[in-house]
Amino acid sequence: MAVPSGSTSLVVVFAILASGIFGQRAEADPRAFFVFGDSLVDSGNNNYLVTSARADAPPYGIDHPTHRATGRFSNGYNIPDLISQRIGSVPTLPYLSPELNGQKLLIGANFASAGIGILNDTGIQFVNIIRAPLQLEYFKQYQRRVSALIGAEKTKQLVNNALVLMTLGGNDFVNNYYLVPLSARSRQYSIQNYVPFIISEYRKILKRLYELGARKVLVTGTGPLGCVPAELAQHSRNGECAAELQKASALYNPQLDNMLTSLNNEIGGHVFIGVNTKEMHNDFMSNPRAYGFVTSKIACCGQGPYNGIGLCTPMSNLCPNRDVYAFWDAFHPSEKANRIIVDQIMVGSTKYMNPMNLSTILALEPSKCYVLLLCFQMCDNVAIECLFSSSS
Ligand SMILES: *[C@@H]1O[C@H](CO)[C@@H](O)[C@H](O)[C@H]1NC(C)=O
Ligand SMILES: *[C@@H]1O[C@H](CO)[C@@H](O)[C@H](O)[C@H]1NC(C)=O
Repeated sequence: MAVPSGSTSLVVVFAILASGIFGQRAEADPRAFFVFGDSLVDSGNNNYLVTSARADAPPYGIDHPTHRATGRFSNGYNIPDLISQRIGSVPTLPYLSPELNGQKLLIGANFASAGIGILNDTGIQFVNIIRAPLQLEYFKQYQRRVSALIGAEKTKQLVNNALVLMTLGGNDFVNNYYLVPLSARSRQYSIQNYVPFIISEYRKILKRLYELGARKVLVTGTGPLGCVPAELAQHSRNGECAAELQKASALYNPQLDNMLTSLNNEIGGHVFIGVNTKEMHNDFMSNPRAYGFVTSKIACCGQGPYNGIGLCTPMSNLCPNRDVYAFWDAFHPSEKANRIIVDQIMVGSTKYMNPMNLSTILALEPSKCYVLLLCFQMCDNVAIECLFSSSS
């Protein structure tokens, strides 16, 4: 965003004015938050489904304020919870929760479902999960329910001003292409051809999300898939990451970034924000001690090598202090690691957040933008950015 230098001070003046006038309203009324994706962001939808992809038994949730297994694949908070905190809100409820009704709908909703991927046949072994097209269908249904409460126009505003998180893709590798040796997909596609295929399918999902009104969407890449305890347990002799999966995420992440850029160009605005979760993981996985971890290879909860075999259950090994483990179970980061990731989402440089971080997005708070419109002639770049987020 290049602001002509002569108008910088004016922008600052207006921004200060704006936060003075509207700051309180913003605090009292945080923007809505919507979450789509897989187990990294599922806050409990699968509790309501007949599926084996679930986290509703101890020791899941051991460090959650309720000390109960909530369906989150974490010892405590997951990434969406920590983002909710940062935007001054409370955790969004799972869309399938019977508690999600009335005014609570205005906080947002979590549509994510453990086990799903970009492709409909990803996670097929989990049988009854909410695949991406159904998550989007539920989002549409949600909007009809909110319209009945506050009217269609206000619902559109709520959705347009909302923050959205989308986390997909990891399962298209671990629960599809690499699920079994010589899987159907891997016989159909080389990995070099599979990645562009899933990226083009992902593009359709994101476009649909835009059509449904999303205007600020954080899209996470895949973490270092080959380095999670489950993969180390199966493929690693000396703690080295599994080469095939590392190659897959090295192919996937840059192509995802390119796709987001091309989609933004087509739409004409910064709707989709790339979150480089691989880079964020790499920091604490290459130097765990610097982040207070004793290990980034062994899961806190599990069994077998690296605690990476099978599920985390009441019978599993369990570490006494979850804060010193980067991985909670064989696939999912601990709450402590989630905090490091969300810190970078909030303030990370363009190495982590492309093209901007969440604190920048929140600074483009809609009510400020109406004031910035006053300086339209002098600082049109800023105004256009705001026009986009308030009117589209
Ligand atoms: C996935 O399913 C939806 C409808 O349920 C369909 O529209 C879409 O084309 C499917 N995607 C693929 C890649 O087959
Ligand atoms: C991210 O956030 C910080 C504010 O905490 C800001 O100084 C920095 O420039 C931002 N970086 C980007 C790339 O937006």
